[in-house]
Order: sequence, then structure tokens, then C-alpha cells
Amino acid sequence: MAEKDPIKVCVTGAAGQIAYSLLYQVAKGQVFGDDQPIILTLLDIPPMMPVLQGVVMELDDCAFSLLREVIPTSDEAVAFKDIDAAMLVGAMPRREGMERKDLLAANVKIFKSQGKSLDANAKKTVKVVVVGNPANTNALICKKYAPSIPAENFSCLTRLDQNRAKAQIAGRVGVTIDSVKNVIIWGNHSSTQFPDVSHGTVSVKGTAVPVSEAVKDDNWIKNEFIKTVQQRGAAVIKARKLSSAMSAAKATGDHMRDWFKGTPQGEYTSMGIVSDGSYGIEAGLVYSFPVTIDKSGKYTIVQGLEVDTFAREKMDATANELKQEMTTALEVCSD
Ligand code: NAD
Ligand code: LMR
Repeated sequence: MAEKDPIKVCVTGAAGQIAYSLLYQVAKGQVFGDDQPIILTLLDIPPMMPVLQGVVMELDDCAFSLLREVIPTSDEAVAFKDIDAAMLVGAMPRREGMERKDLLAANVKIFKSQGKSLDANAKKTVKVVVVGNPANTNALICKKYAPSIPAENFSCLTRLDQNRAKAQIAGRVGVTIDSVKNVIIWGNHSSTQFPDVSHGTVSVKGTAVPVSEAVKDDNWIKNEFIKTVQQRGAAVIKARKLSSAMSAAKATGDHMRDWFKGTPQGEYTSMGIVSDGSYGIEAGLVYSFPVTIDKSGKYTIVQGLEVDTFAREKMDATANELKQEMTTALEVCSD
């Protein structure tokens, strides 16, 4: 069979921690497919260019069969030229004791600039995932400054939270990770997010049962489980003195793979996307919803899930935090 044409993929923050794990997955074919040749553009800031050269040397030395070209640069216009996919990782990470929104003023301007440059340089079909924090609001700003690219092409990463939630449930029940399905992350990638297992299932000895039936402890689900997932990023920072990187890179790859290839039959996944008003969430906010994705890469928000009073309160609390972040971000970007 004839070889596919290469796709052009940009990773920003390419000299940083997350990129170091992410680039391997992308170049190895674990994200876009093992028959999909890749041209990589790698963006970082000018002082990091010597470090980035080292990363490029390592990419060469990995001898990846699918990697056709690597373009390291500190110029957004070069990095975004005609790209099909953008993984916007480059931003300051938080340190111990900070909330992710504390990064807002420092990071949001990066996404204003990159939104403008994507608008001017990327393909109009580009799929963008924002990883740099505060991820939802950075994605909102990026989209705002890229008006010629459809809103549905912008997303932010909440797959890490979903993976964390699945791991907690699998560990509690004593099953493998793939036995846990349809765990949802609603809202912000922050400590107000709502990890929701009320529509999820666990496969026990081949039969899918509701998570609550498998866990048999509603108090744990409503308290310790939710708090553990909400605080997992902070727990990793406390332990590593650095923010999560290997797991963040894995989740970024998972997010993009599902977005390009589709979600498995009968399963949904969570993505921060521009709200269309579903579930009463203000249109325009970048909010994490459960979605299914078809083979052509089009996502649809899962509709009709029952929302009880407990869930409603949590979904609204995280939406309110996002509204406040949006107001602050728009102020920061207005000068
Ligand atoms: P890092 O400090 O190791 O790397 C960040 C890189 O971004 C650095 O090389 C830096 O020079 C570069 N950078 C800074 N400004 C840039 C710009 N304008 N353009 C291009 N590159 C730029 O940090 P990291 O651990 O890789 O984390 C990156 C971001 O991802 C942080 O904001 C972190 O909080 C966030 N993060 C998000 C999630 C998530 O689930 N959404 C998970 C983990 C980390
Ligand atoms: C994470 O969830 O690990 C990242 O968002 C890093 C952080 O600041 O928590």
C-alpha cells in the first residue's frame, strides 16, 4: 500500500518536561497511528534553543521510522505553518502551594499570541489541545484570538483527570484499568473539577456493573475519591517537587489519538471543549464534557445523562470558577 502523506504536528514547550515524554509517543506512532508519517515542529522560547537542540539530537538518535522532519524554532509563525495538530504544552508550571489559576496572568498572554499566530499560519482544520495551565482558560483565549479557525477545533486536556479517576476506581475494586469505562470529568482542570462515576461501569468477571455497585461505598465515592482526583496534581508536585509529566504526556497522547481516530464503540471520553450550552453550562466557556468522537474526528457531547442535585451543585461550582477565570483572563489580555 502507498505510504500516507505526512501530517505536521507542533509541540510547544518542546524543551520541557512533558514534551520529553510526549515527543517519543508522537514520533513512535502511538498517537496518530503506526502507519502515519510525521513532520514535527518544536516551539520553545529563545533561551531554551540550546536545550531544544539536545532534544532534536535525541529524536534523531531514536531512529523513528515515521519521523520525516524535525523543525526546532522559537518563531510561532514557523512552528504553526500549515500544521494539522497542535499540542500547546509550553507555559509555566505551578509549584507547591499554588493553585493552577495562580498561573493565569503569567500564562494567558502566551495563548493570546499563539491564538493569533495559529489563525494566521495553521491549517483551518488544525486540532488544538491546550495542556499549559490554567488549561481551560488558556484554550478559551487561544480560540478567541483565532477567529478563522472553528471553535470546535480547540480543546483542553482533562484526560489526565479521567485517567486518574479510572485508576482510583480500578485500584479500589481490584480490576484492571480497562475494566473501568465512562468515568466523566466535568468542568475545569482544577481543584473544582467534578469527577463523576454515576454513569460509569466496571467489568467484573466479564459483566459490566455500575461503578457504585462495584465499589459498594457511596461515601468513599462522594468524598475521598473526588478529593483525591481533584488534588492529584498537587500531590504529585508535593512528592516530585515538579508537576506531573509522564502521566500528562500519556494523557495528551490519549486525547489526540481519540480525537483523530475516534472513541471506542460504547465509550465516551472527557475533553475540555467550547460549551454550546449543553447541561446548562454557559455557552463559550471551555468546559470538560463527556464526548463521543467518530472516525472522521468529529466529537459530539453525550446528551441526556441524568444530573442529580449533588452533581448539579458540583457542575455549577466548577462553571462559576471558569467564569471568574474568563473575566480575569480577558482583563489581562485587553492591554
Ligand atoms: P516545563 O517548565 O518543564 O516546560 C515548559 C516549557 O515551556 C519550557 O521549556 C519553557 O521554556 C516553555 N515555554 C514557556 N513559554 C513558552 C512560549 N511562549 N512558547 C513556547 N514554549 C514556551 O513545564 P512542564 O512540566 O512541561 O509543564 C508545562 C505546562 O503544562 C505547565 O503549565 C503545567 O502546569 C501544565 N500541565 C498541565 C496538565 C494538564 O493536565 N492540563 C498536566 C501537567 C502539566
Ligand atoms: C496536573 O494536574 O498534574 C497538572 O495540571 C499540574 C498541576 O499544576 O497540577
